[in-house]
Amino acid sequence: MKAARASASAKVILVGEHSVVYGEPAIAVPLPALRAEAVLLPGEEEGLRLVAADLRRSFLLRHAAEEDPLALAVRLALRACGLREPPSARLVIRSAIPIAAGLGSGAAVSIAILRAVTAACGAPLPPERLNALAYEVEKRYHGTPSGIDNTVITWEAPVWFVRGHTPQRLTPPRAPKLLIADGGPAPATRVMVEGVRQRFESAPRRYEALFARMGAIAFEARAALETGNLAALGWLLDENHRLLQAIGVSTPRLDRLVEAARAAGALGAKLTGAGGGGNVIALVDEAGRETVRRALLAAGAERVLEG
Ligand code: PMV
Repeated sequence: MKAARASASAKVILVGEHSVVYGEPAIAVPLPALRAEAVLLPGEEEGLRLVAADLRRSFLLRHAAEEDPLALAVRLALRACGLREPPSARLVIRSAIPIAAGLGSGAAVSIAILRAVTAACGAPLPPERLNALAYEVEKRYHGTPSGIDNTVITWEAPVWFVRGHTPQRLTPPRAPKLLIADGGPAPATRVMVEGVRQRFESAPRRYEALFARMGAIAFEARAALETGNLAALGWLLDENHRLLQAIGVSTPRLDRLVEAARAAGALGAKLTGAGGGGNVIALVDEAGRETVRRALLAAGAERVLEG
């Protein structure tokens, strides 16, 4: 084993969260400036020690519970290296990505770990394999996730994602400029997905129509993104937010942020991810960015990141 360092980006879902679980398409984009990093340092440990300072955790791999997602990422990486015994080393994990906020922090950490450990053993993983192993860890975090997070983060490119189909990489002429505003703590993704499932089961026809409309928005958003029509994309984000309100995953606080961003000149805004809290994205142009950022903070955003 040699020393190795690797990283992975955060992500946001541009359109199609929740409906993606029901087979509709979604689009996610990476946030390359916001990253998780893993550094493997071979050394005098009595095994493989994971040090995750942001999570205030430091533990030997052999003491980690079977269901621990960080340990699972390391174990999958060691298996991919063909190693039975963990090497004596320290694996330092750092992340600037807020956790439990719909920004893909779990998948980014898993991918950084998988990349660093397999680079250290001289067997870097091809993207498809990396994505598949990261999905195994995602299941530990989220139960039955759609796989959109690990896919967009593996590729670090905008993706068109339909559950059960090969994801497609999108190549927009210009990356959309987003502000990402934190609207407070969110329940676990699986809790939000389960809530939608229950409401869907009690009113299937209504929910099918809402999901189908979200799917249509994803198609239109793809066309807008690929032709660089940001005004149309903004309108579609607004429309998608209204549908997310209708399925009961927004909150008054998220709605306030969305409205504040629009009133300050954003081209469009919506909640992103599972909802119930977490983040709002606002599509901005260069000229309006600062005004929208200030409006989001004034409307109660805990933090505004740029994507
Ligand atoms: O919480 P996030 O950003 O990982 O988003 C979850 C997206 C859902 O569509 C609600 C669930 C999923 O597995 O795709």
